[in-house]
Amino acid sequence: MRLSVIGCGYVGLVTGACLAEAGHQVVCTDIDSERIAKLNAGGVPIYELHLSQILKSARAAGKISYTANGGEAIRASDAIFICVGTPPKENGEADLSAIDHCARQIAAEANGPKLVIEKSTVPARTGIELTRALAAYGRNDQIKFRVASNPEFLREGTAVEDFFHPDRIVVGVEDPSAAEDLREIYRPIIERRFTCPVHNGTCPPGPRGELLVTTINSAELIKHASNSFLALKISYANVIADLCERIGADVEEVTRAMGLDPRIGGQFLKAGLGFGGFCFPKDVQAFIHLAASVGVDFDILKAAERVNKERIGRYTEKIRKALWVVKGKRVAVLGLAFKANTDDIRFAPALEVIRELLAEGAEVHATDPEAIPRTQAVFPQLHYHDDPYAALKHADAALVCTEWDAFKKIDWERAGKLMARKLVIDGRNLYSPESMRALGFQYHCFGRP
Ligand SMILES: NC(=O)c1ccc[n+]([C@@H]2O[C@H](COP(=O)([O-])OP(=O)(O)OC[C@H]3O[C@@H](n4cnc5c(N)ncnc54)[C@H](O)[C@@H]3O)[C@@H](O)[C@H]2O)c1
Repeated sequence: MRLSVIGCGYVGLVTGACLAEAGHQVVCTDIDSERIAKLNAGGVPIYELHLSQILKSARAAGKISYTANGGEAIRASDAIFICVGTPPKENGEADLSAIDHCARQIAAEANGPKLVIEKSTVPARTGIELTRALAAYGRNDQIKFRVASNPEFLREGTAVEDFFHPDRIVVGVEDPSAAEDLREIYRPIIERRFTCPVHNGTCPPGPRGELLVTTINSAELIKHASNSFLALKISYANVIADLCERIGADVEEVTRAMGLDPRIGGQFLKAGLGFGGFCFPKDVQAFIHLAASVGVDFDILKAAERVNKERIGRYTEKIRKALWVVKGKRVAVLGLAFKANTDDIRFAPALEVIRELLAEGAEVHATDPEAIPRTQAVFPQLHYHDDPYAALKHADAALVCTEWDAFKKIDWERAGKLMARKLVIDGRNLYSPESMRALGFQYHCFGRP
């Protein structure tokens, strides 16, 4: 089946690259012609592990191509993956204007029947509206559109690995033939008929992702319900951390023991600066908004969102307490991306922290293995360093905002000699309080004595 991908961001590029590597013919398009020019020149506009390698090999095999002409991509394909952004509006509702734009373009440019697949995260009932829009915008009654929802569960940082080894592939359809087409599209992934770039072709044995066929409404709901649940877990761990601080317990001990219960599970129980990125904050907001629009009060989720927003204030309070006066202090911010192994800074907690520090007159020296170029566009006034030790030199405090491996490996004995003051305020609980104190550091973190 010939495929096209609309939107060459994190999800679109990984989807296009992995499906091309799995043997499909894929045309990718984006409204951003500079992005397409970069891809055509062999560049990759985002940082994601293994992505550049598979884009290169799929291109060499003639399986993937890029065009700024959306109509060309639409005409060249039988199935179209919509992977455009669905950012939050002021009121938290998902902004679906890019999806609407795609519907208009697909309806106008289609030269034959098309399977239109929502991969972007959208609120329940978007599929119904998309079906209606395709019919309304279409100029030729003979051309039929089928709509499916195929939410994406990949995580930035491990997106290629996740796409090739999914826990589940959710396919929401109203028409059994659409489910069959999607089964065909994913067959090489389910049957592991691809050269895995993550495991060099020999993936470890393990359960294979199940393809679940649901209604479109359910598929859309599954995505929001899953992300919101994970966000709840993180906020829950953060409240436990606050309790631990007041009571004198260790959140790492508590969450580790909790996580050993298979009904709870250990993931997403890490206390710290809270969640950010282009998924959790906006998906939680959109889910609350969707629930309210149908008369369901999602109080529990509102609380999770409030707890998360308060993390920044709790962190900056720790900074203020430790530094006493922030104005004029030189601080090293370790980590800008919203999580490790990505260059994505959308809704990154580090940026919120920096905004507050700048407002209070601190001199900010920042470092991140991948996210400096994107952050420079937002905060041109910061001092940037590729080398963490250069950022730490003469610093009055080190502020750890992202859990990059490179920061876990910092030699704090060496760093301590470079810093003006041996003070670490760790927003990600990366280090052992005992070892930091043994090195003479004043060390603050979340929920640990
Ligand atoms: N990033 C993730 O980890 C992740 C994971 C799962 C799901 N999602 C969802 O997938 C969707 C895309 O997320 P992303 O992180 O890839 O976003 P992104 O911003 O990285 O990419 C979106 C791309 O779409 C392009 N675009 C926007 N409007 C367009 C249009 N009308 N026609 C053609 N191209 C257009 C943009 O130029 C951009 O390149 C969102 O709904 C998001 O919630 C994201």
